[in-house]
Amino acid sequence: MVMKKVKKDVGPSDLKGSEAEVGIKVCQPGVLKGLPVDGLRLHPAISDIPTVYGVSWKDFLADVKERGIQEPIVVQKGGILLDGQLRLKAAKEGGFKTIPARIVDLNPEEQVHYIFTSALGRRHLTDDQRAVLAHWYRESVLSPEAKKDRSTKANMAKKYGKGSSPTPTLGNKQKVDTRTVAARMFGISRKKVEKVSELPRELQLEVLKGNLKLHEAVKKIAAQKKRQEIAKFGKEVPADKRWDLFCEDSITGMADKKRFPDNSVDLVFSDPPYNKEAIPCYSKMMQEIPRILKPGGSLVVYYGAYYLPEVLNSIRPKLTWWWQLAIKLDASETIKGKSVFQGWKGLLWFCKGGMPKKHPAINDIIVGSKRPEKLYHVWEQSVDDAKHVIEKLTDVGDMVLDPFAGSGTSLIAAVQLHRRAKGFEIDPKHYAVAHGRILKETQEPVVEIGTAA
Ligand SMILES: C[S@@+](CC[C@H](N)C(=O)[O-])C[C@H]1O[C@@H](n2cnc3c(N)ncnc32)[C@H](O)[C@@H]1O
Repeated sequence: MVMKKVKKDVGPSDLKGSEAEVGIKVCQPGVLKGLPVDGLRLHPAISDIPTVYGVSWKDFLADVKERGIQEPIVVQKGGILLDGQLRLKAAKEGGFKTIPARIVDLNPEEQVHYIFTSALGRRHLTDDQRAVLAHWYRESVLSPEAKKDRSTKANMAKKYGKGSSPTPTLGNKQKVDTRTVAARMFGISRKKVEKVSELPRELQLEVLKGNLKLHEAVKKIAAQKKRQEIAKFGKEVPADKRWDLFCEDSITGMADKKRFPDNSVDLVFSDPPYNKEAIPCYSKMMQEIPRILKPGGSLVVYYGAYYLPEVLNSIRPKLTWWWQLAIKLDASETIKGKSVFQGWKGLLWFCKGGMPKKHPAINDIIVGSKRPEKLYHVWEQSVDDAKHVIEKLTDVGDMVLDPFAGSGTSLIAAVQLHRRAKGFEIDPKHYAVAHGRILKETQEPVVEIGTAA
């Protein structure tokens, strides 16, 4: 590879320091110099700030190789890099020996301030990304500063502009609201900064990198909290005789004839994982399901439309094909690689013997079910959809089995409809959530003595 090595003479036209664009707090212009690319250390505050925000590294590197480093990096006296991680990396990879640098002499607080405000100057930051920077800035600069006695409202106002406290009626001795100051500095709402502060650092980083939207990260945390709470509840409340959930592999578990005698289950209602690697689950579960289903019993399964032929091939040799049901989705989902907007989700229905046991006619389109928030499981299905099927295909007291229970949706539907239920969940974390959730959502209403009508 022929590399163009530019020994650039850095001139004043190169002085496009991002702090000048930001206009918040301009640091000294510094001294321009060509510095050796090796031997610079990263300032600790810079290491977490991702270097690329939507810029293709390949394009950037190609540009640097062709035109050299156009904008000097910024280095604190003594060799600490404050701005220009990506440029430094490109200079090294591009084979440059030196890099144009602006040497500044800032105190520790100014260094951190500089790092954050220069990141802020990058125009392609979304509000969510700004909110993360605002929160970090608040943590590392504003809060420690505000803790010092001298950082009264008056001091902060002098430093960060009038109105940096949201409560102007408070006296000057009153501590400032650093969240509001950070929000104003970074041009976003206080609420967003507050939301970021509730996220763990790994998720803040994901938002800053643009991998996750702030509202998605907030939802992720809410779901985690909910799962922890429900699992804890499951540990505290005694088990219930109407259902059994086993934390084990259903393929071997269903082969246990004591727990699953021949002809003992009225309905298998399940949602096996349907990514490509999991497709063998369908044929594996068919080793036992035909044996344990009662004659006239049904198997109703969700499936991924991509693999419908494989799913049908796994089930059809062992059970009778009966029908399919369609769950109408609220919004269409784009199906990758198929040029399709999918507006419904399918359920396949098979039975043991010539036909299913007698039941009232079932509507094969399921509409208007409450959609799950997917707080308990990423693949959580709707309790209403499960009830639609269970109610029609079984009677009170019948046995419903779900070999892939996830967060326990089918068992909840069955027990709420006064059926008995059994299920398997192989993952202990999902199991704990499902166990607590089934307990919680199938609790009988408590009638206090003297209050019943
Ligand atoms: C698609 S999810 C089910 C989600 C469920 N419908 C709900 O509403 O939460 C499938 C579940 O099957 C579990 N699983 C996969 N293989 C299993 C096996 N061999 N035995 C038991 N559970 C299994 C997975 O851990 C996953 O939680």
